[in-house]
Amino acid sequence: MHDHETTKGSLNQHMSDSIVILPARKYDESSILDVMRPWNMHHVPSPEMEELDLSRFFVALSDGKVIGAAGYKILTPTTGKTTLLGVLPGYGKQGVGKRLHHARCQAMYKLGIRKVTTNSDLPSTIRWYQQHFGYKTVGTLKKVSSFGSPDIDHWTTMEMDLEAYRNVATEKF
Ligand SMILES: CC(C)(COP(=O)(O)OP(=O)(O)OC[C@H]1O[C@@H](n2cnc3c(N)ncnc32)[C@H](O)[C@@H]1OP(=O)(O)O)[C@@H](O)C(=O)NCCC(=O)NCCS
Repeated sequence: MHDHETTKGSLNQHMSDSIVILPARKYDESSILDVMRPWNMHHVPSPEMEELDLSRFFVALSDGKVIGAAGYKILTPTTGKTTLLGVLPGYGKQGVGKRLHHARCQAMYKLGIRKVTTNSDLPSTIRWYQQHFGYKTVGTLKKVSSFGSPDIDHWTTMEMDLEAYRNVATEKF
């Protein structure tokens, strides 16, 4: 192979390496909502999402631009819940979503959380959570306002065992 040639995989890997994951900064709120907009997940405040707690958010930056974000909240001393996760179309399938979810799992684990609940609607995203993070479906919940896919009227509620994930995660915490 000539030097200037590359496989799709190595190109994606190179793009992904230049993307950094950081705790959200206090001025990131509108950029986070811009990332959620293509997925119809920008309705904040709304009955589905009252507020963004930036102290519990991570952003993915490409050349300084927010191209992905993920948040969580604490429910009890040992249980947590994910809030929003989105990666801008055009930056998907490079491992950014996995790195963002890993970052919030690590943050929750350090705070003592051992079980994480996530509501998701798209079948492909539900499979993604189950395949990569060991989520199990525990129920469904009707949506109360426009949020996420307009074609799906309910959330699938899933639970993740953080200790089990920690034991198999490639990047340890
Ligand atoms: C769900 C979502 C966050 C995933 O983000 P993403 O950055 O595309 O996900 P990843 O790249 O980490 O993983 C996606 C796939 O790319 C693959 N991948 C990872 N790195 C790769 C690379 N370097 N080259 C090629 N493929 C790669 C992963 O293995 C994974 O494969 P899969 O088909 O088995 O799932 C994103 O699709 C999204 O924003 N969806 C819409 C909003 C949504 O549903 N949010 C969740 C609400 S709960």
